[in-house]
Amino acid sequence: MKHSQHRATLGGKLSAVLVAAGSSVGLGNIWRFPYVAGDNGGGAFLVIYILCVLLLGLPLMVAEFSVGRATHRNAVGAYRALDRRWSFLGYNGVVAAFLILGFYFVVSGWTAEYMVHSLTGELARYSTAEEYKSIFDNFIRNPWRPVLYTSLFVLATHFVIALGVQKGIERSAKVLMPLLFVILIALSIHSLLMPHGGDGLRFFFRPDFSKVTPSTVLVALGQAFFSLSIGIGTMVTYASYFKPDTNLRHTALNVTILDTLVAVLAGVVIFPAVFSVGIAPESGPSLVFITLPSIFNGMPWSMVWSSVFFLLLVVAALTSTISLHEVITAYVHEEWHLSRRAAAWATTAATAVLAAAASLSLGVLGRWTVAGMNLFDSLDYLTANILLPAGGFFTCVFVGWRLDRRILRAQITNDGTLRFRIYGLFIFLLRYVCPAVLLLIFLDNLGVF
Ligand code: PFF
Repeated sequence: MKHSQHRATLGGKLSAVLVAAGSSVGLGNIWRFPYVAGDNGGGAFLVIYILCVLLLGLPLMVAEFSVGRATHRNAVGAYRALDRRWSFLGYNGVVAAFLILGFYFVVSGWTAEYMVHSLTGELARYSTAEEYKSIFDNFIRNPWRPVLYTSLFVLATHFVIALGVQKGIERSAKVLMPLLFVILIALSIHSLLMPHGGDGLRFFFRPDFSKVTPSTVLVALGQAFFSLSIGIGTMVTYASYFKPDTNLRHTALNVTILDTLVAVLAGVVIFPAVFSVGIAPESGPSLVFITLPSIFNGMPWSMVWSSVFFLLLVVAALTSTISLHEVITAYVHEEWHLSRRAAAWATTAATAVLAAAASLSLGVLGRWTVAGMNLFDSLDYLTANILLPAGGFFTCVFVGWRLDRRILRAQITNDGTLRFRIYGLFIFLLRYVCPAVLLLIFLDNLGVF
């Protein structure tokens, strides 16, 4: 296969793990996972989630890595190079990345605003959860401020993408990911020591299967795919920059473990605190913006903790928006034959418009609805519950059934230099288990059973 020349490659093995983990670990772990788990029965959800990650997420990540590194192309170009009829899978990814950015940039903008308000001491002026709730609700409905912070976030992402794969994406991941861990662990310890913290942990870890419905499984799967950044070509795009000696299985395993660890730690930070300050665990997307400020307030040096935490949320979000932006930029650059600079600007402009509309849909444009939801909620629903699982389904079918087995084997074993003892199990999961589970869940969701 002809490889495109002059393409960037990532440095060492650690870089591959950190860059891919930078994409995976994001608001999905810290903002989305706790509230989705809270909405769906806590511990029972966690068990289903971990099963989805291991049985479906991990094999799919290895599959996406293989497609990317075999072709050294953007998501559309990669599938097209392997089999022309499957380029729709790449397009599904580019469209999904665009729609995800539409709401992800908005929430990222909120984290930036909260960081600034922590630094200025504004956030420390309130104390009760009700007060935090009302300032949050007023803030997201405001027509100007969220759009302003969202735009700043879009520009920051653009800046890193413009610096390029090595200087921008790789360098930022290497510094920011380790920092995130240190802060999360410190916050978990503090949260565990809070009064009534045990109730929260019990809620988070004790499985209550009576709350589980088929739709819980769909939600868990959507969350797993969203959190691992799979099903939309991000890992295809990133792996297209991997070196020939990068071990794809180990990289995928490390990324999966790191990602799940951060989600669980975020639950350990948030649930004890939720119970301690008396907020309902189902309080939805705003959980992290209402609960956490209340926690910080009860801590010595609250301003410092709160600023550092929101800075890290900003960082986690940034490494993810960079990866989503890169999926679109690489596609526009390579397929439309624009310079990388022009491709990055086109992506930035288009996503900024969508994100501004999504932000306004929470306030002044609230009357515009798609399938009964405002634009912001519909972007979240459409991507996590439809485009990502659909992308995952077709990726398993393609890699499991269509892709030349020699290409797959060469990628996974680095041309025969690595052993892969559970290759048979991997293929079995990819060919039968993943597509069957994905299909059943879809049909059930459509009310077929
Ligand atoms: N995985 C990111 C998170 O958990 O926040 C979100 C994301 C990034 C989803 C990149 C999809 C993607 F391609």
